[in-house]
Amino acid sequence: MDLRENILETLGNTPLVKLRRFHPAGALLAGKIEYFNPGASVKDRIGIAMIEAAEREGRLRPGMTIVEPTSGNTGLGLAIAAVLKGYKLICTASSKISREKVALLEAHGAEVVICPVDVDAEDPRSYYKVAERIRDEQGAFLPYQYYNQANPETHYRTTGPEIWAQTDGRLTHWVAGIGTGGTISGAAKYLKEKNPEIRVVGVDPEGSVYRYYSEHGRLPPAEELRFYLIDGIGQSYMPPSCWPEYIDEVITVDDKTAYRTVYELARTEAIFTGSSGGAAGWAAREVARRLPADGFVVTLFPDSGERYLSKLNDEWMREKGLLADGERFSGD
Ligand SMILES: Cc1ncc(COP(=O)(O)O)c(C=O)c1O
Repeated sequence: MDLRENILETLGNTPLVKLRRFHPAGALLAGKIEYFNPGASVKDRIGIAMIEAAEREGRLRPGMTIVEPTSGNTGLGLAIAAVLKGYKLICTASSKISREKVALLEAHGAEVVICPVDVDAEDPRSYYKVAERIRDEQGAFLPYQYYNQANPETHYRTTGPEIWAQTDGRLTHWVAGIGTGGTISGAAKYLKEKNPEIRVVGVDPEGSVYRYYSEHGRLPPAEELRFYLIDGIGQSYMPPSCWPEYIDEVITVDDKTAYRTVYELARTEAIFTGSSGGAAGWAAREVARRLPADGFVVTLFPDSGERYLSKLNDEWMREKGLLADGERFSGD
């Protein structure tokens, strides 16, 4: 029999796929397709890991509520684990969250509290502070992926070893988006322990802090921070979930480039990822283009474009200035 105990037993060991149509010549470029996970994103890995770490430490006990500020995917990863383990889940999210993600969370029985996107993280109305208030008022458990070391450690234990095994240790570059930094830096620690020559390149939206931090070792002046439309990556401070010592370089990607690359990947490789995957794919190809033919670049597509269909259409993209006059992406 090939029978799983529950859906979480399908977690991880996601496929690594060559991108020879998207990047035909020169160094090999491959993408790890995280939408093969049970909740269709990379964040399923940390949802169960943060819950089980808290159970082991006695911070999460039967009957307790879990509350998390999330751009959606971590919420769904937590929701899957919460359903199977019998916890109630409340997610706080900024108003930038896609309708699809809210519906998905609610379908899994989670409560979603929408907070304003245009306030500072320290503002009591921000989705971070609202989650802290719910924790305090309800005695809830707050995994807090931005502080929780189980986040990068999960990628050190799973994502990194999977990439090493899938490439027979032959990769030369690891390129990934930085949201909490858990994926890139946790996997990077493992890969660099195996081979210190592997170069790690982070991908950051224009207007976020990570590139400036990697170049100056400190946060940028506040006026350099800007709103961006790429989902799931970038930050306005340096979270402890990111281990910057394992990131050698950071490339910035603008919104238009990230969204256009989503379509390019769908039409060259039939890989339909979200905007953070578009950003990662574009940056990884830039890295591959700098390399000789024996280079081997691995990137990661965190989730699926299906999660953003209310954005990935001509109307929304035109409204947001991602398309020129008369330009369309649908149907031609
Ligand atoms: C869509 C998406 N892409 C990328 C990331 C970045 O992953 P990490 O937080 O591990 O840096 C996230 C994290 O929230 C995400 O939701």
